[in-house]
Amino acid sequence: MILGSIVLCDLPIYIRMADEHNPVMQIVVGIITISDRASKGQYDDLGGPALREAAEGYQWKIGGETLVADEKREIQRAVRELIRGGCQLVLTTGGTGVAPRDVTPEAVREIAGGELPGFGEVMRMESMKITPNAILSRSLAVAVDKALVICLPGKPKGAVECLGFVVGAIPHCVEVLQEVPTSC
Ligand code: MTE
Repeated sequence: MILGSIVLCDLPIYIRMADEHNPVMQIVVGIITISDRASKGQYDDLGGPALREAAEGYQWKIGGETLVADEKREIQRAVRELIRGGCQLVLTTGGTGVAPRDVTPEAVREIAGGELPGFGEVMRMESMKITPNAILSRSLAVAVDKALVICLPGKPKGAVECLGFVVGAIPHCVEVLQEVPTSC
């Protein structure tokens, strides 16, 4: 842990600054499952619950969960609502592939302030060690307002794996986007 200090009335006041292992803030995460079939009740949503379990394992607070069809407007509305509701991190699962209805990357890019290409690069590179189909995922991360939005593949196992590959960078990224003072 890194301590910063300020001097007030001749007394040093120590402030805890963040580092990658000790985030200052409690991360509030929103989870969106993006699937035509799950949204119509044709099969159970397994991706959302898998991400919830992973998020809880990372000690994040669940700020909201939702399930939408592969529709750009629905995806954008869900992302915005979770951010408005206080989520600084939004995880989506599904719609990153090459099927005609896979529109998640296009939907989030339209509302993004900027993209963080390293997230997609690492997710694909590490996932290629597990399955050659990883190259088909257009997984990505963007900033929307002050929140980090990470779009993960639809398979529950793949979504949790990909999150695990980038999780080390998430606390610092969230703090920087939220303008929390950090150690670098
Ligand atoms: N990445 C990991 N780590 N594990 C997986 O099982 N599945 C792949 C890929 N990425 C997978 C993965 C498959 S089969 C597809 S089609 C693409 O993600 C896109 O998935 P999506 O369209 O459901 O988002």
